[in-house]
Amino acid sequence: MNRTLFAVALGAAVIGGCTQAAPPAATRPAGFPAGWTVGLNKPAVQAPHSMIASNSALASAAGVEILKKGGNAVDAAVATGFAMAVTYPQAGNIGGGGFMVIRMADGRAGAMDYREMAPLAATRNMYVDANGKLTDKSRIGALSVGVPGAVAGMAAALAKYGTMSLHDVMQPAIRLAADGFTVDSALSRAIAAGAKLIGPYEGASVFLPGGQAVAPGTLLKQPQLARTLTAIADKGPDAFYKGWIADSLVAEMHRDHGLITKADLAKYHADWRDPVKGTYRGYTIYAMPPSSSGGVIEVEILNILETWPTLPPFGSTQYDHDVAEAFRRAFIDRNTELGDPAFVKNPVDRLTSKDYARTLRDSIQPDRASKTPAFAERGPEPMHTTHYSVVDSAGDAVSTTTTLNSLFGSGNYVGGAGFFLNNEMDDFASQPGSPNQFGLIQGEANAIAPGKRMLSAMSPSIVVDSTGKVLLVVGAAGGPTIITATTQIILNVIDHHMSLADAMSAPRIHQQAWPDKVIYETGGISPAVVDSLKAMGYEMSAVGHLANANAVMRVKGGWEGMVEPRATGGAVGN
Ligand code: DON
Repeated sequence: MNRTLFAVALGAAVIGGCTQAAPPAATRPAGFPAGWTVGLNKPAVQAPHSMIASNSALASAAGVEILKKGGNAVDAAVATGFAMAVTYPQAGNIGGGGFMVIRMADGRAGAMDYREMAPLAATRNMYVDANGKLTDKSRIGALSVGVPGAVAGMAAALAKYGTMSLHDVMQPAIRLAADGFTVDSALSRAIAAGAKLIGPYEGASVFLPGGQAVAPGTLLKQPQLARTLTAIADKGPDAFYKGWIADSLVAEMHRDHGLITKADLAKYHADWRDPVKGTYRGYTIYAMPPSSSGGVIEVEILNILETWPTLPPFGSTQYDHDVAEAFRRAFIDRNTELGDPAFVKNPVDRLTSKDYARTLRDSIQPDRASKTPAFAERGPEPMHTTHYSVVDSAGDAVSTTTTLNSLFGSGNYVGGAGFFLNNEMDDFASQPGSPNQFGLIQGEANAIAPGKRMLSAMSPSIVVDSTGKVLLVVGAAGGPTIITATTQIILNVIDHHMSLADAMSAPRIHQQAWPDKVIYETGGISPAVVDSLKAMGYEMSAVGHLANANAVMRVKGGWEGMVEPRATGGAVGN
């Protein structure tokens, strides 16, 4: 690679195989409150040809290994996805599901929906007890598991847009599982946080040896998972959905009173959909349609904000007001109108139309918070999802978000096959009108039904400029904050002209209609602006951090990759 390229163009230092941008100047963009330190000394990584940003540096490197063998962005994304199942077991997975938005340099685009499905024996009130109260069974244990889609989805994406075999792209993941990798402090902490959930199940022997989380510095080998990945690499997805791996998964269901049968697994299908396509100030957004709400709601928010020729300055009261009101209106639609397209008619065209956005904009008062009805909330749960962004030297781009839902999913671990299972069933409206673990209150469109997909907030997105070139590949983890964080990163780049590092480091806010409050990162809004927003009628609620995004952006001379400055991971380029 041309190492002088960025050094000359952007004042970068050469670090490892890529260049790393010079640390941000001491001055942060206007509107960052004094004392805001997120992202300080965490520059983006730069490379001239290709870039992968994920929550696991080893998984990003696995993808780059495939790119160097001649693979394209889809080959690399699938390699990264399987590697995440090994190195980031709290969210990377083969026992969960996700969404992949693909946009090839020649203009072809696809959206792969590999969301889990409710087992055929699922019933509408399966999480409601005899007294009409919601139980925790939608979140913990085998009853919370949806039929996993990750293996089917990644294989389908590879078959349509990749250039290499499943066998070849899975080799880095198999190697990481068989030979092991060194556990870092972030993974050790995540295992400790999930210990209560993992403890009762077979995963304890791998991740909690002697009852303690695997210590940082340990070489973690996962021979059972290596065997599973090898079977999938050799025989394709049928090894997972029909063979001994399916038997092992069903055995775990029997042991823990779950519902998934061999028939559920055999019938699982990942579906190609047309990406939601929106426009925003001359850029085109490719995003995920239902069964994720992510793309529709992101485009709806952007359309509302585009009705103003320019947005107020970042960090100002008026900016947070406009953004929060756009979030509120879009989330009301999300939580009441959207669901699995195989079961409900989603008004995608209406919700993403510019006319509808103007109607919504007209209902925003310039100086007052609107009100949405309030509902009670459940306490927060540790949660986990992960997003990775991939681009190759041709300009093909892949934006993928995948999840087990909560940290380590349901806690169930498929003994003999070596992987965790999701607890995605909690994303349904288990009792329409009652909140789920994210406080999301949703309606009939997302009620449980056999074979149905639960509505997601995952928002893998690709932003293309007016010349047809990819500008930004972005997405996040964080339940409903996925939509608002992803949208804010897009706004930071397009409206506020921030560098990728600043766009990712910028303080975030969140509003999801119910509960009716603006959540913001502690120290992320200046005290004077908080006071002004309260005076306008907002309930303001400070939290630690919002969302976990990973993004890649085109810059002069190549690409920048930026992992979430609030979390850990690795951007690796070539
Ligand atoms: O699909 C969804 O919207 C949720 N299952 C995502 C969960 C999540 O992001 C948790 N992570 N941090």
